[in-house]
Amino acid sequence: MNTVQNEILKLKAEKDAVILAHYYAPAQTQAVADYVGDSFYLAKVASGLKNRLVVFCGVGFMAESAKLLNPDKKVIVPDPTADCPMAHMASVERIRELRKEYPDLAVVCYINSTAELKAASDVCVTSSNALKIVGNLESKNIFFIPDKNLGRFVAEKLPEKNIILNDGFCPIHDSLTAEEVAGAKALHPGALVLVHPECREDILETADMIGSTAEMIAFAEKSDKSEFIVCTEEGVAFPLTLKGPKKLFYFPRETFVCPDMKLNTPEKLLSALKNEENEIILSEEIKASALRPLERMLELAR
Ligand code: 13P
Ligand code: SF4
Repeated sequence: MNTVQNEILKLKAEKDAVILAHYYAPAQTQAVADYVGDSFYLAKVASGLKNRLVVFCGVGFMAESAKLLNPDKKVIVPDPTADCPMAHMASVERIRELRKEYPDLAVVCYINSTAELKAASDVCVTSSNALKIVGNLESKNIFFIPDKNLGRFVAEKLPEKNIILNDGFCPIHDSLTAEEVAGAKALHPGALVLVHPECREDILETADMIGSTAEMIAFAEKSDKSEFIVCTEEGVAFPLTLKGPKKLFYFPRETFVCPDMKLNTPEKLLSALKNEENEIILSEEIKASALRPLERMLELAR
């Protein structure tokens, strides 16, 4: 641990703070966190926190979810500009239009969305529970927002549902090309290909395993294979190597980075913790309506 990291650990204890970090946060930030995981794990952890102060090292929608699940606690972030572009790629107006068209419509909101979009939805999902939750919904007609790639993956697995897709996408995962994956396979022919479902269809077709970041990490840890091509943000290299120190992990492009996640540097984390700044504030109206679909997800994913 370096000086900044040691200072964070000391302050965290003094201030009764808890640090949550996503796997895409910088490795030095993951190293000082109390809980590190995928978006579903972090939402579950956030629903049972006891500490006075919560520091969330992820992107805006994740910290908002932590605040919704802990309305009475102070939730702060290292950098308030860390945002997920996909979280804004759907509209409440379109939800209203489709509700009129399909009386049984269930609006399924990938957790990567703003609190406003969650508030207009029926249930949230993450990449690790979307299939289970959508498969168990009574409605035949589903509007899946905002990610068209995860929505299409779910629709293909559940042909009995009429899944209406929305035109949102993750700019990082959606930009990965089949040529880049083919290039990595040519260099490492024995490696298994692990793919996040936010990638495009032609990338999913190359996969030996499709899953959330936590599912990829668990798969690689259990696998008797020793080489993997990892089609997601490179922050997962830190937990992958911690859990499989003798295994080799390759990324299909030299820098496969979510710039927003990388704003969660230890320096910014220390400053936010020192000053208890960058607090997440949500209106009472949003707090009341956006919590329900999140709680429903936690219930249905059990
Ligand atoms: P996970 O649900 O796998 O953590 O993914 C979150 C995310 O932002 C992927 O880009
Ligand atoms: Fe959003 Fe993509 Fe970054 Fe995940 S990797 S936080 S979906 S921009």
